[in-house]
Amino acid sequence: MRYVSLFSGGGGLDLGFERAGFEPAVCLDNDPVACETLRHNRPGWNVVCADIREFDATKYAGAELVVGGPPCQGFSTAGKGNPDDPRNFLWKEYFRVVNEVQPQAVVLENVSALSHKHNGDHLTGIMRALEEQGFNFSLGVLNAAEFGVPQSRRRLIVVGVRDGLAKLPTPKPAQRLRNVNDAILDLASMPDTPSFNHVANMHADHVVKRWSLLEPGQTDPNYRRGRLDGNRPSVTIRAGGGYGPKGNHLGGFHPPIHPTLPRQLTVREAARLQTFPDSWFFCGPKTIQGRQVGNAVPVELAAAIADTVRGLIVDAPDARAVGEAAS
Ligand SMILES: C[S@@+](CC[C@H](N)C(=O)[O-])C[C@H]1O[C@@H](n2cnc3c(N)ncnc32)[C@H](O)[C@@H]1O
Repeated sequence: MRYVSLFSGGGGLDLGFERAGFEPAVCLDNDPVACETLRHNRPGWNVVCADIREFDATKYAGAELVVGGPPCQGFSTAGKGNPDDPRNFLWKEYFRVVNEVQPQAVVLENVSALSHKHNGDHLTGIMRALEEQGFNFSLGVLNAAEFGVPQSRRRLIVVGVRDGLAKLPTPKPAQRLRNVNDAILDLASMPDTPSFNHVANMHADHVVKRWSLLEPGQTDPNYRRGRLDGNRPSVTIRAGGGYGPKGNHLGGFHPPIHPTLPRQLTVREAARLQTFPDSWFFCGPKTIQGRQVGNAVPVELAAAIADTVRGLIVDAPDARAVGEAAS
């Protein structure tokens, strides 16, 4: 089954759909480094590096599915959440593409904050666009931790289908949630390996000293950074900046502190918490690698969504009719 991938980033959503047997007709992103990552890992994929506002999707008409997570910086509760941020309106471009492709189904992912307060207008707009284009839809906030991901990460997921009833994946029954130790502890003794995105930050001595004293789950108030508790799922891995000692906002990648070492996670450790396979390499400088990781849909969650959507497309009344006619 072919699909159109919008805002593909570092490829988390796409890896999940690949796992469920889908093939991208095109992956679109306007970040050249994210595009480099996609091309590096999947030379056979058709990666288009362009602004969605200039993207003509008509040549992909007939693909079964459109998927994408429009940027969320303007919505995110982690950032300032500027309601006038032009990126907040890119979901309209998503639906312009859907109109051009006329797929059987759509998947849209965003931060759960999209359903809050001043962002509510956008969600209403999204629901109206789905109805106008003839989709039945189901939406809800899913926590990746309930889908085999060693991280608590709540994301709004929308699934729309033209025929039949839409549904979201149901959480995997598990004896216990996967935790940070399960996912990353084996990397603690690994030397720096740039080809594996595993390069530890050199923190200042006073920072190392402070972080050595933190208990698991405890936050350093100066930097608003927490030490992970190895026995629990990780806190959400974010793409955006962190905080300096005076509460000043910092750009770059500022993941949580390692559960046993006085340093922040490496990009590879963060990628493990996002359930990227170790074979997936992130291009660009370390901060941009981290941004791709923090922006991604965890691969395991994406695969659960993709499995559900594949079932909906295969079981759709029209698909059954075609299958019956052929047999
Ligand atoms: C939340 S990330 C998507 C992450 C991706 N779904 C994944 O699972 O890895 C949003 C992406 O939208 C891209 N983007 C932002 N504005 C865009 C635009 N105008 N046109 C195309 N892509 C854009 C960003 O470069 C970023 O990679």
